[in-house]
Amino acid sequence: MKQQELIDLVKDMSLTEKVNQLLQVTSGFYIDEAILTGPIRENGITEESIAEAGTVIGLLGAEKYKEIQDSYMEKHPHKIPLMFMFDVINGFRTIFPIPLGQGATFEPELSKRLAQVAAKESAVSGIHVTFAPMVDLVRDARWGRVMESTGEDGKLNSDFAKAMVEGFQGDDVGQEYNIAACVKHFAAYGAPTAGREYNTVELSENTLRGYYLPAYKVAIDAGVEMVMTSFNTLNGVPATGNEWLMRDVLRDEMGFDGVLISDWTAIEEIIYHGYAKDRKQAAELAIKAGVDIDMMTGIYSKELAALIESGKVDERLLDESVLRILMLKNKLGLFENPYKDADPIKEKEVILCEEHRKTALEAAEKSFVLLENDGILPLKKGEKVAFIGPFVPEKEIYGAWSMLAKDEDTVSIADAFAKFEGVYDMTFTQGSPVLGAEDYKLIPKHHVKEVSKADEERMLAEAVEAAKGADKVILAIGEHRVMSGEAASRTDLLLPEVQQRLLRAVHEVNPNIAVVLFTGRPLDLREISEKSKAILNVWMPGTEGGNAIANTLTGNFNPSGKLPMSFPYNVGQVPVHYNEYFTGRPFDPKSGEVMYRSNYRDIPNTPLYPFGYGLSYTTFAYSDLTINKNQMTADEQITASITLKNTGDCTGTETVQLYIRDCFGSVVRPRKELKDYQKVTLQPGEEQVISFTINEEMLQFCRVDMSFGSEPGEFHVYIGADSSTEEYVAFELI
Ligand code: GLC
Repeated sequence: MKQQELIDLVKDMSLTEKVNQLLQVTSGFYIDEAILTGPIRENGITEESIAEAGTVIGLLGAEKYKEIQDSYMEKHPHKIPLMFMFDVINGFRTIFPIPLGQGATFEPELSKRLAQVAAKESAVSGIHVTFAPMVDLVRDARWGRVMESTGEDGKLNSDFAKAMVEGFQGDDVGQEYNIAACVKHFAAYGAPTAGREYNTVELSENTLRGYYLPAYKVAIDAGVEMVMTSFNTLNGVPATGNEWLMRDVLRDEMGFDGVLISDWTAIEEIIYHGYAKDRKQAAELAIKAGVDIDMMTGIYSKELAALIESGKVDERLLDESVLRILMLKNKLGLFENPYKDADPIKEKEVILCEEHRKTALEAAEKSFVLLENDGILPLKKGEKVAFIGPFVPEKEIYGAWSMLAKDEDTVSIADAFAKFEGVYDMTFTQGSPVLGAEDYKLIPKHHVKEVSKADEERMLAEAVEAAKGADKVILAIGEHRVMSGEAASRTDLLLPEVQQRLLRAVHEVNPNIAVVLFTGRPLDLREISEKSKAILNVWMPGTEGGNAIANTLTGNFNPSGKLPMSFPYNVGQVPVHYNEYFTGRPFDPKSGEVMYRSNYRDIPNTPLYPFGYGLSYTTFAYSDLTINKNQMTADEQITASITLKNTGDCTGTETVQLYIRDCFGSVVRPRKELKDYQKVTLQPGEEQVISFTINEEMLQFCRVDMSFGSEPGEFHVYIGADSSTEEYVAFELI
């Protein structure tokens, strides 16, 4: 439809119709069951409002959605089609590594391809919009949703945000197999006080603008069609009712003119925050903040008409919201083709096809981060290898948001190594459950698989026997997949006690342990690193996880991932991140001074494994850090170079990272900041000069007056393997 036709359509709609166009309900309201991703509130969702709701959350498959669309449009007064939305976070049915694992690839282009695959599988299943990418910057591993982010760095998150939006949406969301993306959660949901889910967010405006907002802005500049509000307050005002954040910042400053959707029941939660006195005021605050879609409360449907008729809310605000929703439906082509790409036949052809599985395998392999290896990996042919641990047979190796993942589609470690019968002398023993009784509280009851104490003891004894006779142990341990994700905050970062007992018992009889670690978040790995000779962090790798692990453990794939989020020394150190400030009493462990410095008396300041860190089966040497000049004006550039050499005995890929420190400014500046990175593959013995171009834009930051720009002065340039790189060269911006 033409824009004017849309405007005329809004004019022609009744007040009730317009109000109900802002309602989103789960697909279950159109059939008898639903995938619920949040609490269902007793609220004003009625037969009438459901019959005119504008959008639906959930997934029922192409056939069912076509039926629902037909019966809905038949009854709708203006035949306006429904728009179907779902959480397609790291894959649809072909499941990819969790976003934190994708961040570890340092390869946004790969995540663009993953989003394209996910969009295609979603589109043929009847989905029009996904609630992704989540670009919340995260520094606190106590918060379970770090698994959904690409990490602690604004530059890396921005690169992935752009890539994912482009992957989902293509050049035009109306084109075949493209779906609209939704950047979330606006804003700063990743900084909850004490890492506790849904908790208060208190940030200086400078920190908000300098670190937390940039990735959303990049997604908006990439053309993201929708933004989702966050549950949290931001400096005392709930985001979902926050007119400054949503109108002044999001729409006026950032130029976002698309659809703004509330998070699940977030409009009603304005009341519980103590910001609205009742549902009527919650509706008024949300619509004035520019929230277009009310996810699952019915408050708009119940309250908006009266607010407008009483003059408390200008009807033009309602009309603007309705128009934005109709414009998105129009961009998707739904007025001409309400089914878009929904096609039961294509669903069967496309979902989990060989090509998609290959992409999932590539992504899983590239997401793995080798944290330790004394040479025990890769495995050598003929070795007697005991595969021990709950994750040896485990099929639930996909993230908490992989609602459509099926165990029968997923390759476990045991599945994958069955193909290596005869290559290695292998035994497979579970050794322990994922969770012992003392840990059941960490996950929702319906996920708990109870194991008796007697069975635990039996499994442990079997594991010890298996370990005794082996050359090496592959110990596959980790978090249950829903120990990270929404509503999964916790105050300790250790593995479940039952798995710690397994590690200790195996280590007693065989210290040659290589740990394969499944996790949705950074953990406290001190004891694991003491009791093992290798640690391969595989995150939650998804459908092809087992094959990717087998390819890596056997050396067919050489790990290349780098940490997108620091792994703390212990939970007491959290939040910890590489780009911290110096303080007035910087602590230098080499100085020997431990009094009256900014440090802890009991642990180091540095994390156990820093941002950007990751090993390879080969080794790399960095040398000859140079810059081509020591001064630059704002319109000039500097070239910084390093020589990288593969000093090991196998081909490897290294992510060379460029960091810059701004030595002083109108606000204090961090120790260093990631400004660029390049993945380089070198043969054994091969060396290459890697160069980066430094321009004035890289030196810009949020200054004391909240403007973005650079300031003259001294800068230090680091190029290295991770954020702990110390050698630098200096230049001056004049
Ligand atoms: C959840 C999440 C949000 C998700 C939405 C719909 O509570 O916060 O990320 O997209 O509800 O499932």
